[in-house]
Amino acid sequence: MPPDKLPIVVLISGSGSNLQAIIDAAERGGLPVEIRAVISNRPGVLGLARAKKAGIPAEVLDHTDFASREDYDRALMALIDRFQPGLVVLAGFMRLLSDAFTDHYAGRMLNIHPSLLPAYKGLHTHRRVLEDGASVHGASVHFVTAELDGGPVIAQVRVPVHPGDSPERLAARVLEQEHRLYPEVIRWFAEGRLRLGEDGRAWLDGEPLDEPVTLDDHRP
Ligand code: GAR
Repeated sequence: MPPDKLPIVVLISGSGSNLQAIIDAAERGGLPVEIRAVISNRPGVLGLARAKKAGIPAEVLDHTDFASREDYDRALMALIDRFQPGLVVLAGFMRLLSDAFTDHYAGRMLNIHPSLLPAYKGLHTHRRVLEDGASVHGASVHFVTAELDGGPVIAQVRVPVHPGDSPERLAARVLEQEHRLYPEVIRWFAEGRLRLGEDGRAWLDGEPLDEPVTLDDHRP
């Protein structure tokens, strides 16, 4: 008997290519999750069409319909909780989150960010990396805490910066690696191997992570 699947809800704001990577991994059978819903704060985005095509309930909760961040986050929590997920997956969800929201999902919410955290928190990471002349860039998956892009980093993937790179070319190279990284980390959580410890660190296979796992040396 295969183990039970972990119910998840995925939050998006745009193209949803990371969502697609999760859908594909789940369909291939290598990722024991049931995507109960995809929720976007923006109507009409490609990620919603990807969800519908995969037969996943696709919901829009438009932030412009709400007077304050607190109001929006309260409604979003209520919507998410209707699906009773064991994990909330932020996949290009471009919203700052209130403390009430991050507290509610503490230890059961992951985010992917396009940089080697703690470097380049926030927006426009690819452009800033190029402006600094850095030679290595990448992506990180972390538990979400109240600090923006500041929760404990679980795993990273490194990506070389090439001479003459544009932000778009670099973003595409990073995104390709995000699509390997995110399903892998979600799998660890779904298999019960990954948790947020009471010490605020990420724990994998019963050990606290002193530094993030890099995709190349992860345990199968
Ligand atoms: C991804 O590169 C993701 O890391 C980034 O947005 C993109 C979403 O792409 N997230 C953030 O910048 C969060 N701060 P996708 O919609 O195609 O998955």
